[in-house]
Amino acid sequence: MKKILGIETSCDDTCISLIEAEKENPFYFKVLSNIVSSQTEIHKKWGGIHPTLAKREHQENLTPLLGKTLSVLGSAKVLPKKKLKCSDSFLEKESRLSKKLLPFLEKTAKPPVDAVAVTVGPGLDPSLWTGVNFAKTLSCYWKIPIIPVNHIEAHLIISLFSLEKGRLIPRIITFPAIGLIVSGGHTQLVLIKKIGRYELIGETRDDAAGECFDKTARILGLGYPGGPAISEQARKESSVSVDLPRPMIHAKNYDFSFSGLKTAVLYLCKSLPREKRVSGQYCSAIAREIEQAIIDVLFKKTLRAVKEYGVETLILGGGVVASQELQKKFKKTGDDVAVLFPPGKTQTDNALMTAVTGFFKNPLPLKKVKAAPNLRL
Ligand code: KG4
Ligand code: ZN
Repeated sequence: MKKILGIETSCDDTCISLIEAEKENPFYFKVLSNIVSSQTEIHKKWGGIHPTLAKREHQENLTPLLGKTLSVLGSAKVLPKKKLKCSDSFLEKESRLSKKLLPFLEKTAKPPVDAVAVTVGPGLDPSLWTGVNFAKTLSCYWKIPIIPVNHIEAHLIISLFSLEKGRLIPRIITFPAIGLIVSGGHTQLVLIKKIGRYELIGETRDDAAGECFDKTARILGLGYPGGPAISEQARKESSVSVDLPRPMIHAKNYDFSFSGLKTAVLYLCKSLPREKRVSGQYCSAIAREIEQAIIDVLFKKTLRAVKEYGVETLILGGGVVASQELQKKFKKTGDDVAVLFPPGKTQTDNALMTAVTGFFKNPLPLKKVKAAPNLRL
């Protein structure tokens, strides 16, 4: 397998990437294209992700993004020698997508792509199905294998690479390693024995870390997505300070709980007199404390896992890793452990991680590829 197309639509970003495995260097990949089309502006109005709107946007966006992606191969405008055919219809419930994709496929020659890798879960059911049906249609028309990808695993695998001058370069890693996935939907600590062999050692019992950022940002009126909004507010000058709990920080397990922090923010805001509640000073102080509380808990429990399992590598993945404060903290772990961050801007959702994970996985027959919103590692 040389060129792999990656499709990611598990949440509110429509993402397509194209990578090429280098013949002469095993596990090196050229990034031919990597597009993330964010729907943030659409969902901002709702203060969070609206699943029906997310699906509609994926249906509208996927075909134009595919055209843009294939244009890097110079093949998009070539007229097909014979009409492509697919006997199955995976687009019955995807009429918007169908209206754009089928005419595109009819006028486009089969591109030199060897496989399509698609996120099948976990994620939002309607969004996942659009990506899966899109990928199945491409697989059927172009007669190329389809590879199902687990989104959580992809968040970890991308951190095994650095990204230099448009190439993914494998990092030197000693296994076993500890992996921390912190995204909008997940907070998990895993023992990674090798690629594909994971043991879950702890996870959140309620809200994910990213979800806590999103929900507390909403309480503070800071908008969506919460993580970057809280970080920005936290950086502003403030002479006041507030205290918030660090839930489960001392618990003798690797589980997390963030809903108590959200409730504490809610009560704190309600308890403040109106003039303080609307003051920028208090908002900044609360934002800073939310950020610190989340990072403190993640850091303490993760480092304990690293020590107790005696590993030399810590792999971080997921949107929350985009936090500069979190990165600062995890860069100070000492020399005994190598901390791997997602390269470039691959902390938040993207299809580069989907394509590269696909490289390490096996294709499945079309009929067996299904969206799995609750997929586990
Ligand atoms: O991995 P991701 O893009 O999507 C999921 O798989 O969920 O993660 C999205 C999450 C959101 O909750 C968002 O608030 C959070 O990542 N996030 C951040 C930052 N950027 C995104 N959290 C903290 N600081 C950031 N800079
Ligand atoms: Zn994600």
